[in-house]
Amino acid sequence: MSFLSATLSRVKPSPTVAVTTLAQELKAQGRDVIGLGAGEPDFDTPDNIKQAAIAAIHAGKTKYTAPDGMPELKAAVCAKFARENGLSYTPSQVSVATGGKQILFNALLATLNPGDEVIIPAPYWVSYPDMVLLGGGTPVIVECGLEAGFKMTAEQLEAAITPKTKWLIFNSPSNPTGAGYSRAELKALTDVLMRHPHVWVMSDDMYEHLVFDDFEFCTPAQVEPGLYERTLTCNGVSKAYAMTGWRIGYAAGPEHLIAAMRKIQSQSTTNPSSISQWAAVEALNGPQDFLPGFRTLFQGRRDLVVKMLNEAPGITCATPDGAFYVYPSIAGCIGKTSPAGTLLDTDEAFAKALLEETGVAVVFGAAFGLSPNFRVSYATSDEALTEACNRIRGFCENLT
Ligand SMILES: Cc1ncc(COP(=O)(O)O)c(C=O)c1O
Repeated sequence: MSFLSATLSRVKPSPTVAVTTLAQELKAQGRDVIGLGAGEPDFDTPDNIKQAAIAAIHAGKTKYTAPDGMPELKAAVCAKFARENGLSYTPSQVSVATGGKQILFNALLATLNPGDEVIIPAPYWVSYPDMVLLGGGTPVIVECGLEAGFKMTAEQLEAAITPKTKWLIFNSPSNPTGAGYSRAELKALTDVLMRHPHVWVMSDDMYEHLVFDDFEFCTPAQVEPGLYERTLTCNGVSKAYAMTGWRIGYAAGPEHLIAAMRKIQSQSTTNPSSISQWAAVEALNGPQDFLPGFRTLFQGRRDLVVKMLNEAPGITCATPDGAFYVYPSIAGCIGKTSPAGTLLDTDEAFAKALLEETGVAVVFGAAFGLSPNFRVSYATSDEALTEACNRIRGFCENLT
C-alpha cells in the first residue's frame, strides 16, 4: 500500500513549474533566457500600501486575527464590492484568505462530494481542475477555441450541465487568454444558470482591473441578481496592486458557504498574515489613481506582442480584452521540425524546443487544457518583449 494518499494520485504536478525549472536550469548554466512564464506584474507594490504594512508592524499588529479576515479588511471588501460592482454584502458574507488561490480551494473543499461535477471552460487557469480533484469532485472541461474568442457559449453551458453539476467556475478576463465576457455574453450564460437552480457559480474576478480599450468588466451576481444566493464572487489584491507575494485574496457570497469556508481555514492556516491584511486594507481603501497607468502600460505591451507574434509564420494571436497574457495558436507550426532537429508534434515539444534553442520561456497550451497554443505573460519590459518576439519569429521562420 502506498504511503501517499489516493487523493494525491489523482492530481498532476504543475506543468508551469516544469517550464520554470528548466528555464532556471538553463539560466544557471549561463544561458541568456527571457522568461515570459510568470503570472505576476513586474511593478513594485505601490508605496502607500508598503507604508501601511510597515505601520502595522510598528503598531504591533502582529498577532493572530479572526480566521477569515479582520473586521477592518472585511469592511474594506464590502465597500469595494458596493463601490465597484454594485454588490451589497455584509462582513459575515465575506471571507479573506492567503491568496485568491486559497479562497477557491476552501470553497471547493467545503462543498464537493465524490461524484460532484464542476464545469470548467478551457483554456483554464492551471489550478482549477486539480483543485476540484483534490476536493474529491470531477472536472467537466468545456473546450472554447480561438474561433469562439476562447469563450463558452450558452449552448455549451446548457449541454455540460447534469444533475450532478455543483459549480461553474467562471473567469473573466481569463488566465491564460485574456478574453473577457461582455455583459451580453455573460447574461446569456446567467440565463442558462437561472434555469438550473442546483448549479452555483464561482466567479474568479482576479483580473477585474486589468482591462483594455473600452471593455467594461462585469461579474455574474451583478449581471443577474437572481444568482446572488448561489454565487461566490472571488477577487484579490495580487494582480491589480502588484501584491502577489503578500498573499491576500477575498470573496463574498452566502453566509452559510462563508461559514463552511471559515471552518476549513480555522483548521488549516488559521488566518492570513495580519501585516498583509493591513496592507490590503490600504490597497482597497486608499487611492486607486495608479490603476489607469497600470492599464495603459499593459495595453501598450499587449499591442506590441500581438503585432509581433502575428508576424511569425504559423502563429495566430488574438487581441485580448484584459489580464496580461496572450494565448497564440501554433497550429501552423505543429508537425514541423525545429532548427536543431526536434519534431514539433505537440505544443509541449514546441515550448521546450523554443526554450532550448532560443532561450525564450513560455508555457505550453496543454497545461491550460487547449492545444496547440502557448501562453505569453507580457508583464515584462518592452525591450525584453521585443527581443523575445524577434527570437520567436526567427524560430518559426526556420522551421522545416
Ligand atoms: C485566474 C487566477 N485566479 C486566481 C489566481 C490566484 O491568485 P493569488 O496569487 O491571489 O493566489 C491566479 C494567479 O495566477 C489567477 O491567474
